[in-house]
Order: sequence, then C-alpha cells, then structure tokens
Amino acid sequence: MPRIKFHSGETIPLEMHKVRIVQKLTLLPIEDRLKAMDDAGNNTFLLQNCDVFMDMLTDSGVNAMSDQQLAAMMIADDSYAGSATYTRLEAKLRELFGMHYILPTHQGRACENILAQTFVKPGTIVPMNYHFTTTKAHIVLNGGVIEELVKKEGLEVTSDLPFKGDIDIEALEALARKEGADKIAFVRMEAGTNLIGGQPISLANLADVRRVCDKYGLILVFDASLLADNLYFMKEREDSCKDLSIREITRRVADLCDIIYFSARKLGCVRGGGICIRDEGLYKRMRGLVPLYEGFLTYGGMSVREIEALTVGLEETMDEDMINQGPQFIAYMVSELLKRGVPVITPAGGLGCHIDAMRFLDHIPQAEYRAGALASACYIASGVRGMERGTLSEQRNPDGTEVFSNMELLRLAMPRRVFTRSQVDYAIDRIDWLYQNRKMIDGLVFVEEPEILRFFYGRLKPVSDWQEKLVAKFRADFGDSL
Ligand code: F0G
Repeated sequence: MPRIKFHSGETIPLEMHKVRIVQKLTLLPIEDRLKAMDDAGNNTFLLQNCDVFMDMLTDSGVNAMSDQQLAAMMIADDSYAGSATYTRLEAKLRELFGMHYILPTHQGRACENILAQTFVKPGTIVPMNYHFTTTKAHIVLNGGVIEELVKKEGLEVTSDLPFKGDIDIEALEALARKEGADKIAFVRMEAGTNLIGGQPISLANLADVRRVCDKYGLILVFDASLLADNLYFMKEREDSCKDLSIREITRRVADLCDIIYFSARKLGCVRGGGICIRDEGLYKRMRGLVPLYEGFLTYGGMSVREIEALTVGLEETMDEDMINQGPQFIAYMVSELLKRGVPVITPAGGLGCHIDAMRFLDHIPQAEYRAGALASACYIASGVRGMERGTLSEQRNPDGTEVFSNMELLRLAMPRRVFTRSQVDYAIDRIDWLYQNRKMIDGLVFVEEPEILRFFYGRLKPVSDWQEKLVAKFRADFGDSL
C-alpha cells in the first residue's frame, strides 16, 4: 500500500488488491438493531452475524484470504501422517524464522497451553511486556504468576512513544537478578501488544531483552500472533530497520528468540497455529503434548487445506503492500476520529482502532460499564460490532467487588483486506454522531452474570430508556436513512 497523494494534497490509504469474491451484507434499520441488541443482552458476542453490518469484533480468523491461498487449498495432501502439505509449511517456517523444530497446533491458545504445561510450575513467574487473556489463563492454571513490565507509556491512552509495547528493561533486569532462572519459567514478549491497543515493540527493545535473558540464563518466548503489524511498524518507525526488507526484519526478530509461537488466525490469515523452536531439547520437552491435545505432529488439529493456505499466507506476510493495509486503514480511522474530537488510543497501532470509553462516556460510573455501554450504543447507531475491553472483561474479586480496568476501550478491529474505505468512512461518521450525542448514552447492569469469562456470554440491560431515546434522536437527525 504505497502512500498515494491526491491532487488536493490529501494522502489516502489505497488498496493494493482487488475484490474477486464478495459476501453480501445487510444493514438493518435502527429499530431492528435496537431489538437485536436487546435480544443479545447488550453483549456484542451474543449478536447474530447476520444482524451485523461491519463485524469489527476481532481480526481473528476473519481476515481476507488471497487468490493464491485459495488456489493452494486445492492441492492439499490429505494424510494423517507425513503429509507433503505439512512438509511445505515446515520448510516455510524454517526459511522465515531460521528455527529448525516446528510443532503445529489448532490455534494460538493451544501453543500457550503446551508452553505453560511444559515450563510453568507452581510458584514460577513469567515476566512479559503485557498479557493476553488466554496466555494469562494458561499460566495461572499451571500455578504460575505473570509480571507485566510494559513501559509506563504503554498504559497511557495518548502518547508519542512509537513503540508503546516495549518492556521496561530495567524492571526486567531487576526481576531477573532477584528471582533468577529457577523462578522464572520464561520471558514472554508479545508483538503488536493486543490489550493495550495493538501497540508494537521495537527490535532494539527485543535485543535488550535477549541480552538480559543471556545474562541470567532465561528462555525468550515470542508471541508472533500480531507480527505482521509489528513488522510494518518496525520498518516505518525504527531507523535501524528502514533499509531492511520485511524478510530481513523478520529474521532479525527471530534470531533474538528461543521460541516463537503464533495464532495463524491472525498471522497468515487462516485458522491454526504453531510453535517454532531453536533447540532440540526444548522441542522434545514439548512435543509429546501435541498428539495429546492437538493431533499428530504433521497436522496439529489444522485441516490440510488451512495448512496449505497458511504456507502461502506466511510468504505473503513478507510483502509490504500486504501488511501495510491494516495499520494504514487504522491510522486513517484514528486520524479522522481525532479530527472530530473523539478520544482514541494514540499513536495508532495495529489490530484495530481503540476508542477511549473512559473519556467518551465520563458521565457514566465505571461500575455501569462505560466500554460495554459504548459497544452497545455503537451497534445500535451503526450496525458496527466492536468488542468491550474494560471492566466488563475483568473478573470480580472473591468478595464480589468489581475490578475496575485501567482502560475502558471499545475495540473496533480491522480485519485485514476486508473493508473498503467507504465502509470505514461510514463507521467514522456514525461514531462521530454518537460522540455528538454522547450525553444521551447511559450505563448497563447485569441481568445474568456468569462467574468465569462473563464478557463472553453475560447478559445486561440499560439502566434507563436511553436506547429508545437514542433511536428517536437518530430518526430525527437521519430521517429514513438506515
Ligand atoms: N496471542 C495473542 C497476542 C492474541 O491476540 C491471541 C488471540 C492469542 C494469543 C490466542 O490465539 O485465538 O488463535 O487461540 N486473539 C484474539 C483476539 C482472540 O480477538 O484478539 P487464538
């Protein structure tokens, strides 16, 4: 996606692909959207996809695939053991990451299960830049604790720091000195740090982490699920990467790590996952868990068709025009929302556009779920489905009190190569309208609150008739427009 300037001087993100297969979308009238949101208990996870116009819930497993990926699926070699399809994937991963040993899995969290079961023992610590929900769950399940050491700017909504995902290296070194290799199961670095707004890490920071790991004899594990976005940001924002190809940057990243794992639902635009390991001993410690939880070593729970498409998808990740698309669309959305005064996470990261519900809805008590209320209002106003990333996604304390999240975010994920610019403009327009009318939005309360992972299937209701009033205002402002 080259930087194209219009005659007017405006710079736009220009799609470097054409659409050859389409899926019909429907945009329900706002009254029907209100009913759908009510039926879903004000939880966007419980909406039916047929009622959604733009599905910005996640970028996981919903990225567009290329013609080359679809073509590759037709030549897949169906075989339980020794499939040629798997050999091709193994060769591609070895080529890109320079690690010899590969374990296939059905998705990213399966890698986390294997890593945690192998390395995490009760009382051990896993320092990391920041956790992802499933990562933390597996570590805790095995008796470990996580220690989040992201730089302080990483937790600030607005910042100029280009690599907000970087770890505080002094804090990591202090922890390593204090606890040592016996207590530290491994050090984990996450590319494109998901929960703080898809914020990248720098190559320089990763090199510093390597230095600490070498000094204290620690294993460095790299979560590459969001590597594609992170590679783009390294090339864009880091001087030492400016003259390197994406393939060269990939190799420099990999050369610093002992183990790389990924969700292929993001990296490679298919559905699957894998672990790449440099050392034979570490590989052998993990290998036995793959047939137990995933499937035989040459498919790991993935279909051969997906594996074939993954091999192509990984190669396509080396194409700057391909990996630029998501971050540039997100940057466009972020800058347009900023122009309209809407509070968003800056700098723009990967994964999606993150709206700061803490400020957007500062008149609502945090206990009435600002980000959840915004997700509900956003769907009603636009048919755009986002994901709550705030207090609703936390778990209550054992005494029943709420754990208030540091950030209250509405994540609007940007699946790669899926939406057109006019669709993104539509989302911007409706969010702008919501912002103008933000004082009409009020809170939510639980009517059904599951004890574990309540955000997935809990049901809520509005604290007043604010949603009906919002619909009436929409009708007054937009007439009979959808
Ligand atoms: N690591 C990161 C950084 C992730 O973002 C995810 C998934 C996983 C691991 C787990 O991978 O879903 O294939 O099992 N993130 C998805 C999301 C769920 O919506 O952000 P998985």
